[in-house]
Amino acid sequence: MATNTGMTDETGPAAAAGVAPAGQARARRKVFIKSYGCQMNVYDSHRMADTLAPEGYVETHSPADADLVVLNTCHIREKAAEKVYSEIGRMRQLKDSAAGAGRRMVVAVAGCVAQAEGEEILRRAAPVDLVVGPQSYHRLPEMLRRVAAGEKVVDTEFPIESKFDVLAAPTGAATRARGVTAFVTVQEGCDKFCTFCVVPYTRGAEASRPAARIVAEAERLADAGVRELTLIGQNVNAYHGTGPDGREWTLARLMYRLSEIPGIARLRYTTSHPRDVTDDLVEAHRDLPALMPQLHLPVQSGADRVLAAMNRRHTRADYLSVISRLRAARPDLALSSDFIVGFPGESEADFRDTVALVDEVGYASAFSFKYSPRPGTPAADMADQVPEPVKEERLAVLQAAIERSRRAFNLRCLGSTVDVLFEKPGRHPGQLVGRSPYLQPVQVLAPATRIGDFASVTITEIAPNSLFGRLAEQQAAAPAARPAVMALGA
Ligand code: 5AD
Ligand code: SF4
Repeated sequence: MATNTGMTDETGPAAAAGVAPAGQARARRKVFIKSYGCQMNVYDSHRMADTLAPEGYVETHSPADADLVVLNTCHIREKAAEKVYSEIGRMRQLKDSAAGAGRRMVVAVAGCVAQAEGEEILRRAAPVDLVVGPQSYHRLPEMLRRVAAGEKVVDTEFPIESKFDVLAAPTGAATRARGVTAFVTVQEGCDKFCTFCVVPYTRGAEASRPAARIVAEAERLADAGVRELTLIGQNVNAYHGTGPDGREWTLARLMYRLSEIPGIARLRYTTSHPRDVTDDLVEAHRDLPALMPQLHLPVQSGADRVLAAMNRRHTRADYLSVISRLRAARPDLALSSDFIVGFPGESEADFRDTVALVDEVGYASAFSFKYSPRPGTPAADMADQVPEPVKEERLAVLQAAIERSRRAFNLRCLGSTVDVLFEKPGRHPGQLVGRSPYLQPVQVLAPATRIGDFASVTITEIAPNSLFGRLAEQQAAAPAARPAVMALGA
């Protein structure tokens, strides 16, 4: 399975910089947090911001006027780490300008690159003051005090206490500013040890949060206006947290409980491993109305030889059988996946099996990546590394297949009426954008007062990155939701 679905670079209201000693009047300082990679990092960035807020930090969107810059990094593929080092280069200039103006800017590297590289970052990147691994964010205030006293600090421990027990909760205002959808981490880490993946090393062993804490967090979010929760974890359907009844709860059990919270209308979860799709999870897709008909279920390859070398612990047939069970329970389920091309030893025939799998499953969307050797993982030392040009070629072929599949899925939605939860202003003036139950972004002409509402929307047009629709109640009168360009649909 995988760490993430949409890999994003998110900058944003996530925190503030510099921490005042306890008891001292707290100067308002500014923190800029940039998240790379998966939703887990977006969530962690919010928690860091929430932890720094009581220390006097307010978030800024501009690194130039920040007192603290946190780069919350991703190590899953090569480019992600490279991007961080070039971003540190840019921060050096800002840090120098701040120093010229008599102001200190603290630069912190967090996330999986921090975990994997540790002190190496301080050696390689002089502007960095602080390196903090994903399990130690709750210690940030104390670390910043040490930095203020002139130390360079590295903390990549896996502490005994869980950061989740200590990290601050967001205020109602912070939650409202983040919108009507929210992530909630329910488990972290992974025990699967796919041979290409750094996650078991950077995020550690699989650990599930107690259900009562997740429920309490979800209740706070619902009180602040959140309507849709996405439960996240590197291997989210391995969730096995302790329930308030003292028993072990599955992800399905947890979702039934969360669906009882007033205001929580939609649930999603990501990212799942095919081996951990239990019968009760399949039944939840049939029986739990709040659970959206959409699932990210990475397969990585369609060839058994490659799946075995990846240590995926499932075959192509196993994967297809999981999908059949899910579709029997929920025929309209929108599936997405992650694929890796050019894994060591992948032959042309293996690759063709992967493309054929895309055609056979019919994905609503998928992410595809060229294999990138991650130091310390078994696959990095395997013979038969695939040459870069071959990887490039295969990636292009696979992406074309994924695009065909995505378009076919979207075409089936054309003319249908779906529920959309409006999240924010859309691409063009007067539009809002929201998500369909299948996670497609839908642009609709609607007043801003409807942000946070559900509406029945008829899909009128499809484009590569969005669907377009109109409010079903205005169907007769409303014009198309955007200028009539790029109509790929009917
Ligand atoms: N090379 C390329 N892609 C990778 N992924 C994870 N590790 C690697 C790697 N070494 C991809 C997988 C995973 C997604 C989050 O990133 O497809 O599901
Ligand atoms: Fe997903 Fe495998 Fe990595 Fe675990 S080891 S996070 S299952 S890709």
